[in-house]
Amino acid sequence: PEPGWTTSADVVVIGSGIAGLTAALRLKDTLPEGATVLVVTKDRLNAGSTQWAQGGIAAALGPGDTPEQHEVDTLVAGAGACDLDAVRALVREGPEAVRELIALGTNFDHSADGELSLTREGGHHRDRIAHAGGDATGAEIQRALIAAIGRAPEIEVIKRALAVDLLLSGPLGDGGGVAGVTLHVMGEGQRDGVGAVHCRAVVLASGGLGQVFSQTTNPAVSTGDGMALALRAGATLRDLEFVQFHPTVMYLGADSRGQQPLISEAVRGEGAFLVDFEGERFMQGVHELADLAPRDIVAKAIMKRMLETGHPHMWLDARHLGAEFWERRFPTILATAREHGVDPVHDLIPVAPACHYASGGVRTDLWGRSDVPGLYATGEVACSGVHGANRLASNSLLEGLVFSRRIASVLPAELRPWADPAPDVRTMGLIAGDTRRELQETMTARVGVLRTAAGLSDAAAEIDGLVGKGASEIDLESWETTNLVTIARALAGAAAMREETRGSHWREDFPERDDAHFAGHVDVTMRDGLA
Ligand code: SIN
Repeated sequence: PEPGWTTSADVVVIGSGIAGLTAALRLKDTLPEGATVLVVTKDRLNAGSTQWAQGGIAAALGPGDTPEQHEVDTLVAGAGACDLDAVRALVREGPEAVRELIALGTNFDHSADGELSLTREGGHHRDRIAHAGGDATGAEIQRALIAAIGRAPEIEVIKRALAVDLLLSGPLGDGGGVAGVTLHVMGEGQRDGVGAVHCRAVVLASGGLGQVFSQTTNPAVSTGDGMALALRAGATLRDLEFVQFHPTVMYLGADSRGQQPLISEAVRGEGAFLVDFEGERFMQGVHELADLAPRDIVAKAIMKRMLETGHPHMWLDARHLGAEFWERRFPTILATAREHGVDPVHDLIPVAPACHYASGGVRTDLWGRSDVPGLYATGEVACSGVHGANRLASNSLLEGLVFSRRIASVLPAELRPWADPAPDVRTMGLIAGDTRRELQETMTARVGVLRTAAGLSDAAAEIDGLVGKGASEIDLESWETTNLVTIARALAGAAAMREETRGSHWREDFPERDDAHFAGHVDVTMRDGLA
């Protein structure tokens, strides 16, 4: 539809988690005097995944730890598919970035002697995870960032606004680049409905795609909007097949859909362990780190045991941690488990893997630049190369922090001249919102933890079938469903292209990691006809 209103800002930041708000706050300081920053967020400022992060943020901050050791753990978890320079930027700049977050007002937990309290999670050989409120790290970071935004009234914010599409100044490759972005605003008075923001750069920080599967730890807003927008604008998506399934998501029954309660890896970091229905500690012997092996290895071991025994979940035993420890260290998880009728102090917790994190996303260079001039990406929406085939626990908040700082340091010198948007000739129709459930069932059954060529091909056909189911109304549900279908098709295509098992990509028909035929990165664009 034609925009009903227009406005302008030099830079538009899409998303309001750690990546988006860090980018906006840093840009406020690095942009020339008078340049304007607008933050657009689909819901409330704290509705995204940052708010839900439990375990913490990883950085080499403890005695004896070094960025080099963090680098090794990140590369090992990434299963040979990380970009070394990106990992180095992450681990070297991480400690300073976390200290800056502390200076901004984030209250991390400290030990009795006043030292930053650091814990361990899967794949880490050191205690290097800073946490807050026990298991409410993301909520504390989000609170501190929102408070900082509140102290910066020059940063404009539009809430309840979905970023629909980029406006380009002309064809890519022929001098074209970002000239604006269209928004669908849900009830902002003057700015209601579809409108356009003219701008000179867009920073995408819109998070992941967990809602493309039936069960996920991601909140409802994680519908792949930024990746779909970038794809439609001509950007390259990289390594989409590397979707991480968190091993210990509380199992609420076969019919439970949408966001499911996460049981942080930090619970295993503090001594909890997995058992099967016979009480056997099945992670022992699977990996030298046993219950604290990298996430993909634990998720696979749980799935394997579930398939062998026919049970829909396994168990996490954390009873020995005791009531006092549970209440102090994991108050959020304790309360949530009890709400669902499980008391971790006395009961085993039923757990199964569920979709948790998109390691792939919009391909960027070391400075967050996509291949669309003027479009930058940071955080989960991006593929900066730091996660490879399997993100190391608690590297996600860090990635948003580090790469947003990087973007803010280069973007001012690269601001494009103001340009009129070229006419938009895209014809993609909106897909009916009520197809979402069918899409999620297809994705979970055929593009989830276990994948085969036949299953992926069936999934592609089923997803194509949904494209014909046009929406009768232009509303949030249909925009989101259209984005989910777009990303699902690209993800199924990418998963079919990688004919090996590596990290979080598990092919039943190619069950081994195949270094001899390693495909490197799998890139997808609209031109491949995959989206
Ligand atoms: C967790 O707390 O287990 C999640 C941490 C992460 O996803 O990095």
